[in-house]
This record gives sequence, structure tokens and C-alpha cells, in this order.
Amino acid sequence: MPQRLASVSAHAEERLSSGLSELDLVLGGGLVQGSVVLVGGEPGIGKSTLLLQALLDLEARGVATLLVSGEESPAQVKMRARRLDGPVDDLRLISETRSAQVLACLEEQMPAVCVVDSIQTMWSEEISSAPGSVSQIRDVTGQLLRVAKGNAITMLLVGHVTKAGDLAGPRVLEHMVDAVLSFEGDRTRPYRILRAAKNRFGSTNEVGVFQMTGRGLVGVPDPSALFLEDGPASPGAAILAAVEGSRCLLAEVQALVVSSALAMPRRVTRGVDGNRLAMVTAVLTRRAGMRLGECDIFVNVGGGLSVEDPAADLPLALAVASALHDKPLPGVAAFGELSLTGRVRYVAHGEVRVQELARHGIERVLAPRRNVDELRDRGAVPQGVTLQAVEDIQDVVRGVIA
Ligand code: TYD
Ligand code: MG
Repeated sequence: MPQRLASVSAHAEERLSSGLSELDLVLGGGLVQGSVVLVGGEPGIGKSTLLLQALLDLEARGVATLLVSGEESPAQVKMRARRLDGPVDDLRLISETRSAQVLACLEEQMPAVCVVDSIQTMWSEEISSAPGSVSQIRDVTGQLLRVAKGNAITMLLVGHVTKAGDLAGPRVLEHMVDAVLSFEGDRTRPYRILRAAKNRFGSTNEVGVFQMTGRGLVGVPDPSALFLEDGPASPGAAILAAVEGSRCLLAEVQALVVSSALAMPRRVTRGVDGNRLAMVTAVLTRRAGMRLGECDIFVNVGGGLSVEDPAADLPLALAVASALHDKPLPGVAAFGELSLTGRVRYVAHGEVRVQELARHGIERVLAPRRNVDELRDRGAVPQGVTLQAVEDIQDVVRGVIA
């Protein structure tokens, strides 16, 4: 029988703090009871550490938890837990990969929060294909989902990602769960970014920022300059101010342009989307007359940051132009989106960007004309900052590079 909407009670879902404010932020205000969250990331990035910390904090607050470890022995989990601050003795765990045993344990223990590390190691005896195969992962996830929803157990599933950055296993996994978080960063550096790729209970804008220390992950509440490195400006570097959720992150975007020996010159990016570089390169070639067609172009965002904000187009273009002309841009930052016609388009959050740049001593900022007008009208240009309005890519080249 269908019911009338009037009879549906729509109270706000219950949230439980994970104890990690950056994780809560990305989830949209904490864990939703009975939700299933997939946490993906490269091996070694810190997924097990993140979720262990959350479980320990929950347990310390009297929330019943369970860790299902399919990859590590209880002794290994204990060694990791000992590195962290706080009590660890009460954590309940099973080292198990057979889904029937996991489900039985869940139904017996009825934890409020359960971590399964990792989903790829779980397998069902009812299915003939090998553990880790698509049908196994899909089936086990379905089983866990039913138990989670049926008993209001919040489930956090660790998922490995492939080299290409996709969650290993079927895409359908991402459709089954309520939220998909990805844990990113350069493993050789301590900073980590947590993002939501999907979130049924919140936005996917917010990012969480952590630092991996000798005693686990620590949230970084003011991360704006974390990815900014000091040192003299070299040709090919420009500073970007990317707004990710409620945060503005500064970083250096670096480009290297060299003549290519290949018929198909190389375009290699780290921290920005390769299609974005292709577009910016095409605009610089066609609208600013730069000869990039026979050059290899390499781009990197400093500090291991990955940027999705389209306002990074302008600093990216600047970095490439600066590299091509071998002209350094000391203390120059930029934000703005490039259109295919070569125009520099208005972006949101101009004020936050300029404020953060000013706070970190950046003196010259290139910005879209409308953003500059808006900031001046509002009297929001910080002291010591020179704003330079740019309307199209030729302005940029003329005013800065030439
Ligand atoms: P881990 O959580 O095992 O990563 P994942 O589950 O994503 O594979 O942690 C990875 C790295 O973090 C490992 O190289 C050890 C390091 N680490 C620290 O630097 N400090 C710590 O307190 C802990 C627990 C781990
Ligand atoms: Mg792990």
C-alpha cells in the first residue's frame, strides 16, 4: 500500500560524531545511523589508520563498535593502535574474510558502528568466483548493506583503488552505498585530503585535511597555506587559490615545457585534470599565439594537492606561459576560469581567495575583471595586495609574461 506523503515522518537523520572533526565535515556533520560509507584510497595512504582512530574515539565515548579486519592480524591492529593517543584496550575486532562469519558476528554483537577493512578481502562461500572478483565484492556488499539497514548499523567499508584512481571492483559498488569518500595525497608527504565523491546525506563540496604524524592522523583546521612551499619563484610556477567547500587552499602550480621528440607530444599532469591542461593549452595556442604544439608539457601541483576548482585555469595558463617564456613570476597568484574563446570568466568566492592570498604575503593577484570590480565596490581589497584585472588570455600574456 502506498502511503500519503503527509503521513511520512521526515525528521532529520541522526548523526554521530566520528570523533574526527575533518571526517565529520566531509560526511556532512557526522556519521548517519545505518548509513554505508565506502572509503577509498591508495594503499598506504592511511585508510586503516583513519578508521581505527574513529573507532577508538567512538568506543571511548561508549559507542559499541566492531572492526572486521580481513587484511591484518589482531596483533598488527594492536601495533597500529598503540601508536595512537588514548585508550585502545576496549576495541572489539575479528580477523575474518568469510562474509557469513562477519554477518553472524554483526548480528550477535549489534555494534552501532562497524569498519570492514577491506571490502575486497571479503568473500561469500555461496559464490563460486574468486575472492576479490567483481561478483564477490558486489554480493558481499549487498549482504552487508542489508544487515546495516536492517539493524541501523553504520558501516564503513575500506576500498582499494586501482592505479587509475578508480575504486577496484564494480562501479555498481559506488551506486550501492550512501557515500563514497576518497582519501588522497602524496605518500611521500604528510598531508592528506579527504573528499566525498558521493554523499546522500550531505554535499560533496567539503574537503577534510589531515596530517599524518607519528601518532596517527591529525586534522588541520586551517590548511590554507599547507601546500604552499617557500623558496624563490622559478619560471613555470604560479600560485593558485582553490576553493574546495568552505576552505580556500593555496598551492603552487608548476609547469615544464620542453620541445618534444615525439609525434604526439606528452601532456602529463599531477594534481590537475589532464583534460583541463589540454583545454588551457589549446586556448594558449589558438588565442594567445603560443607555440605549444610541438612541446611536451608537464604540470604538477605542489604539496600533493589535487585541485578540481575551475578557477585554477588562470594560474595553470600562467604557469605554462611562464615556463614557455622562461620568465619567473615571483609573488604572483591568479584565479579565474578560462573559456574556449580565451575570456577569463568570473568565479565565486573572490573575496575569500584574495584574503587568504593576502594573509600569506602574496602581493600581486590576477583576477577576472568582474571579480576585481566586485572586490573594489565592496572595499574588500586587502592592504598590500595589488589586484590586476584580466579580461582575456591576451591580457594575461601582455601584462605579465611579455
Ligand atoms: P595505513 O592506515 O595502514 O594505510 P592504508 O590502510 O590506507 O593502506 O597507514 C599507512 C602509513 O601511515 C604507513 O606507512 C604508516 C604510517 N603511519 C604513520 O606515519 N603514523 C601513524 O601513527 C600510523 C598509525 C601510521
Ligand atoms: Mg589498510
